[in-house]
Order: sequence, then structure tokens, then C-alpha cells
Amino acid sequence: MVPTSNPTATGTPVAIRAENLTKEFRLAHHAYASLKGLLLSFLPKRVERLTALQSISFTIRPGETVGLIGRNGSGKSTLLGIIARVYRPTSGRLEIHGRVAPLLELGAGFHPDLTGLENIYFNGVILGLTRRQVAERVAAIVQFAELEGYIDAPIRTYSSGMLMRLGFAVAAHVDADILLVDEVLAVGDARFQQKCYDKIQQFQREGRTILFVSHDMDAIQRVAQRVLWLDKGVLRADGDAPSVVQAYLNSVQESL
Ligand SMILES: Nc1ncnc2c1ncn2[C@@H]1O[C@H](COP(=O)(O)OP(=O)(O)O)[C@@H](O)[C@H]1O
Ligand SMILES: [Mg+2]
Repeated sequence: MVPTSNPTATGTPVAIRAENLTKEFRLAHHAYASLKGLLLSFLPKRVERLTALQSISFTIRPGETVGLIGRNGSGKSTLLGIIARVYRPTSGRLEIHGRVAPLLELGAGFHPDLTGLENIYFNGVILGLTRRQVAERVAAIVQFAELEGYIDAPIRTYSSGMLMRLGFAVAAHVDADILLVDEVLAVGDARFQQKCYDKIQQFQREGRTILFVSHDMDAIQRVAQRVLWLDKGVLRADGDAPSVVQAYLNSVQESL
């Protein structure tokens, strides 16, 4: 066989590269609760803009595990949502090499009126598995999510913890190259969290790329070599886990 040239030989391989990524949400106000509100609604609408991400740039290499930290509302979920293609960036460039595991939440892949089982099939097929492949994995997914007794109920009846467990279980079983994890380690008991860590470590051994959000700084340092710190939509730091976590904790301390 003729050896093929390595397409990445000309540069460092890239899993995710963001260049000046910006995301604005537009919030249109409809205040019809009062007569005044109704009258005002005939005026041109004031559209409030909220910059959730402001010109973010970083590069993640294949096989890296990167932690994403920051206070509530700092843009972490928005960034994962853009990478998962739930949201489109307002401006900037995003380059992704490899298949991204979904970020399954209500409104983003999960359908409230379908059962847990139907959602597994629906999303598995959307993500490129055959029905047969999904069928082979269903038992493992349900077992991982610990939803054996609930899998035939519509997921609108699930608690947020149950939804997160199902979302992680599906994402972990679709052979993605890039796994996005949004605070799933905060749900469930210690045993479920341990299962998630085991899965994440398995992904690391397999050389997959992981970007995960957590408020648990010990967990972040245990799993990630590198950490991105988002602060009000701005990338405040990007570096080795211990120093970025320390800088973040210092800033939280100062603000108290
Ligand atoms: N779908 C949306 N529509 C409007 N604003 C949003 C939406 N999603 C997030 N935001 C706003 O964007 C900012 C960042 O939110 P988010 O990314 O969820 O932060 P984090 O995950 O770090 O807590 C917040 O001010 C939030 O209210
Ligand atoms: Mg969030």
C-alpha cells in the first residue's frame, strides 16, 4: 500500500479552534402586562443586546482535556452550545475537526413529549448511528443513566438530574471525537459521579478531546491539564490547571 501523507503534518493538529468568537443574544421586550405596555408595543421595539461571549480565541488539540470555569452567567454553556452547533456565533470563526457529541438538553436535541427510549433512538439516528447500532447500545445507555424504571415515560416528567444523566449517557455512547460536558458532574450521587469520571478517563485513554464545565475545582484539577476561565463573556485566562484555578479562586475571594 502506498503510504499517504499526513494532512496535519504541516501544522499542529487541531480539534477546536475559536477565533474572535462573539455571541450576542437579542432580547426583545414584549410588555403587554399593562395598558402602557400595550401602547408602547406600537412603538419601535427596543431590543436589548446581551454579549454572552466577547471575541474569544483559543485552540484545543486532539486528545486534550480542557476545563471551562467561571461564575454563573459568564458564557460557559453558550460556548459549549456554539461548539455543539446549538447556537450560531454572531461573529468570529470556529473550526472543528471531528465529530462532536451532542449537548442534549430540552430544546437542543431532547424532545419533551417523547419517552426516554424514543429520545435515545431519535438522537442516536440523528447523530449518524443506524437503528441497529442504537439498539445494540440502548441497554448500556439506560443502565448508565440509571433510568431503568423511567425510560418509557415522556422526558418532560424527568427531573433536571435525570435529563442530565440521560444526556451524558447518550453523548458517551455515540463514538464522538469531541465530548462536551456541562456540569453533569454536579448531578447525581457520589457513585454516579464516579461513573462519569471513569467514562471521562476512558475517553482520555482513547485519545478523545474533552471540554468540560464544572464548579468543582478539585474535579477540574484532577481531570484537566488545562483550564479556560471565562469572566462575563471574556476569556480571562487560558493556561495550566493549577495556576488558572488559583487565579480564579483568588478573584472570587477578592470579590467577597
Ligand atoms: N438563549 C438565550 N437567550 C438569551 N440570553 C441567553 C441565552 N442563553 C444564555 N443567555 C445569557 O448569556 C449569558 C451567559 O449565559 P451562560 O452561557 O448560560 O452562562 P454560564 O453557563 O457560564 O452560567 C447570561 O447572561 C445568560 O443570561
Ligand atoms: Mg451554564
